Amino acid sequence: MSEYNPIDLLFGGMGQLGPGGDAYTLDVLKTLPGGEFETIVDAGSGSGRQTIMLARELRKVVHAVDNHGPFLDDLRRRASEAGVGHLVETHLMDMAEIPRVFSAIDLLWSEGAAYNIGFENALRTWAPAMKPGGLMVLSELALLSEGGPQDVMDFLFGVYPSIQTTAQNIASGRGAGLRAVDTYTLPREAWVEGYYDVLGPRAEKLLNHPDSSVREMAVETLREIDVFKSSGDSYGYVFYVFERVA
Ligand SMILES: C[S@@+](CC[C@H](N)C(=O)[O-])C[C@H]1O[C@@H](n2cnc3c(N)ncnc32)[C@H](O)[C@@H]1O
Repeated sequence: MSEYNPIDLLFGGMGQLGPGGDAYTLDVLKTLPGGEFETIVDAGSGSGRQTIMLARELRKVVHAVDNHGPFLDDLRRRASEAGVGHLVETHLMDMAEIPRVFSAIDLLWSEGAAYNIGFENALRTWAPAMKPGGLMVLSELALLSEGGPQDVMDFLFGVYPSIQTTAQNIASGRGAGLRAVDTYTLPREAWVEGYYDVLGPRAEKLLNHPDSSVREMAVETLREIDVFKSSGDSYGYVFYVFERVA
């Protein structure tokens, strides 16, 4: 087994681990119907950019769930620096286990992470842990148009064979007892600022790393960024606001 962890070398210390940004998190948060949220879970929190934003805005404890310890260590440090350390509780666990640990969730948030256990599976797994009327807010990669350049589609279906359209993702929600209240498509800048513009230079520096798994991850990352540049509007990240139907 390699002594290097490609994930830590590429992503360690990054302020965000996927497309998004505080302004978008806040925009979506402000559209939410309903009043007070008591039990709040951030599934696949990573280093917690959005966790900190939720804690700061809602002034309630946010339970950050992730299965990668170094990201949670980073999150605790960042939350404390942001003055919300007392409002963030970290849980080193698999997000598929959320219903075993939490019940009657008022707000389940998850940015760019649900796909790790399969988007539809995540909805079906988490829905029973939601309070009736509770809100599930997830961002997920989606097909935005009928097609796109062939090399872009080949890459996309290669890395994410089960990718769906926004309408199909909404239908997956219906199947899990969730009503789609709203959707919000992230603009292309949300992929670049704070994410690809940080990740790209990191990947380039790792191209000559002595460990082949690190080099491979660097090459794949740079390929992903290149494909994005020529993808037009064929795919994007979409926020879904779902309400658990009573
Ligand atoms: C693309 S990152 C997104 C992180 C963060 N939400 C953000 O937008 O910056 C996906 C996160 O999901 C976590 N993750 C992947 N599979 C997981 C699982 N089965 N259970 C818990 N966390 C998981 C990873 O460790 C990573 O932090």
